[in-house]
Amino acid sequence: MNRVIAIDGPSGAGKSTIAKLLAQDLGYEYLDTGALYRAVALGLLHLGLNEETGDDELAAALEKIKVSFRMGRVFLNHKDVSQEIRSPEASHFASVFSARRLVRELLLDIQREALHHADLVAEGRDMTTVVFPYAYRKFYLDASVEERAERRTLEMKTKGYEVSREKICLDIIERDARDSGRDLAPLKIAEDAVLIDSTGMSVQDVFRKVLEIIRQDEQR
Ligand code: DC
Repeated sequence: MNRVIAIDGPSGAGKSTIAKLLAQDLGYEYLDTGALYRAVALGLLHLGLNEETGDDELAAALEKIKVSFRMGRVFLNHKDVSQEIRSPEASHFASVFSARRLVRELLLDIQREALHHADLVAEGRDMTTVVFPYAYRKFYLDASVEERAERRTLEMKTKGYEVSREKICLDIIERDARDSGRDLAPLKIAEDAVLIDSTGMSVQDVFRKVLEIIRQDEQR
């Protein structure tokens, strides 16, 4: 059985950065599950769906959507959408559509299937609780809302988006509430996850801490 290191946490907590570094260091595959939810949301948006769409129409639309990933790139119906999924609109609708059972069921299989092919560092909102409850190691990464908004603003500016820190902060608060408050697979801290608050910590410090915890356990 392949191993999975599962990382959950809210938007902007540094999950992707740490997961990528870990995957590189350990020789595991990196599974960005937020990217899958974003790609599905983009597909649904292209088909004209929105918050109000009912389950029948959603099910029919999902039939027309094929999401896959390869070598760190995400594909929607075989088209590389790795950049498009980072837009503020895709962020918003990924959070909206991820609350729908049909969407979560579709992606559950894709995520679990990935573990058949490689050891994984998987990050998202329900890696430690629902998708990989038997994960080899579990982490919950967090940071203050202000710091997460600051990081997200810098990231979006680097990607060429015109954004204000205040607007990003409000978006983060709204997404946190939706991702944690939904009925299905809400974001929460698993009982057996190690909580790391990265507020005020550098990427290298967080990475070192996570590695230390993984290796400490291995020496037991
Ligand atoms: O990690 P991210 O910001 O790229 O995720 C985008 C949205 O997708 C997030 O607001 C909630 C949803 N998501 C989810 O519900 N479950 C996951 N495992 C990953 C993401």
